[in-house]
Amino acid sequence: VNKIIIDTDPGIDDSMAIQIALASKEFEILGLTTVFGNVDVHLATINALRLLQLANRTEIPVAKGASTPLKGKFMGGVPFVHGDDGQGNTWQPPCDLSPINTPADEFLIEQIIKFPKQVTIAALGPLTNLATALSKKPEIQNLVKEVVFMGGNAFCAGNATPAAEANILSDPDAADIVLGANWPITMIGLDVTHKTMISQETLNEISECDAPLNNYVMRAYQYYLDFFMRVNKIDGTYVHDSSVFAYLIDKNLYKTVKYPVKVETQEGISKGKTWPSIGESDHEEGEALLPWKNRPKVNICIDVNEKRVIKLL
Ligand code: BDR
Ligand code: CA
Repeated sequence: VNKIIIDTDPGIDDSMAIQIALASKEFEILGLTTVFGNVDVHLATINALRLLQLANRTEIPVAKGASTPLKGKFMGGVPFVHGDDGQGNTWQPPCDLSPINTPADEFLIEQIIKFPKQVTIAALGPLTNLATALSKKPEIQNLVKEVVFMGGNAFCAGNATPAAEANILSDPDAADIVLGANWPITMIGLDVTHKTMISQETLNEISECDAPLNNYVMRAYQYYLDFFMRVNKIDGTYVHDSSVFAYLIDKNLYKTVKYPVKVETQEGISKGKTWPSIGESDHEEGEALLPWKNRPKVNICIDVNEKRVIKLL
């Protein structure tokens, strides 16, 4: 059993991912930590608490995290993808649970120190909480078991802009810190999540399970699916955040490569792009490669057994 902390900005696909983690016997969930992203951090926290309430798992603590990126301000979320409530405009009744008093980054530090080499961080939103945890306690690099995050695009186009994926673009400075840290880290980016799709048919099949949490998540998910079918003109939705748990449950479902990655943090059209350095030998000594030099290698998912992931979900 894997001890995990889920760092999240629910978010419709975050909700499905959390539902999967709750349902799987593979995980002992130590807590959820929240971050701004799809919605503001206040709403993300309420949404996280409500999921636990519906699942009857209120013993799991929720720690509220960053409300803004390291630099600049929160740009206001993506209501056209996730709804104004972050849950497909299903406007659920208010949730009467509260987060714990410990902030997200301190909760991460506390748990990683309490269970050395045992805690996996599953990050499903902007990487701000992980970055501030690292700057407060760099030792956690050596104490965490692994970090698996949904975000970035190594060898393909972005989704928030042609260059960048949404979670990375939301806080490129944090992402650059997290990807430059010396801890075992796996990137589940658009390279694989755009190859994994849930169709209306699959959604209908999942909806047949009549349980309070599933009914809630499925109702929200229809909004997400409709958005992708209408705007991206694809026959379903991409499986972003849930892919983190598919990977953690069965790493053989993914093909990976290891390269150091830098994030474009400057303003401009490439802001938020994740750049792996494949270290071609004729440039290896060049000055232009200095930004990648001495950076640890990131485990990057580049291919996926899509059919098996969908079956697993
Ligand atoms: C990521 O951005 C968010 O909208 C989703 O929840 C996911 O984490 C996909 O780019
Ligand atoms: Ca997310």
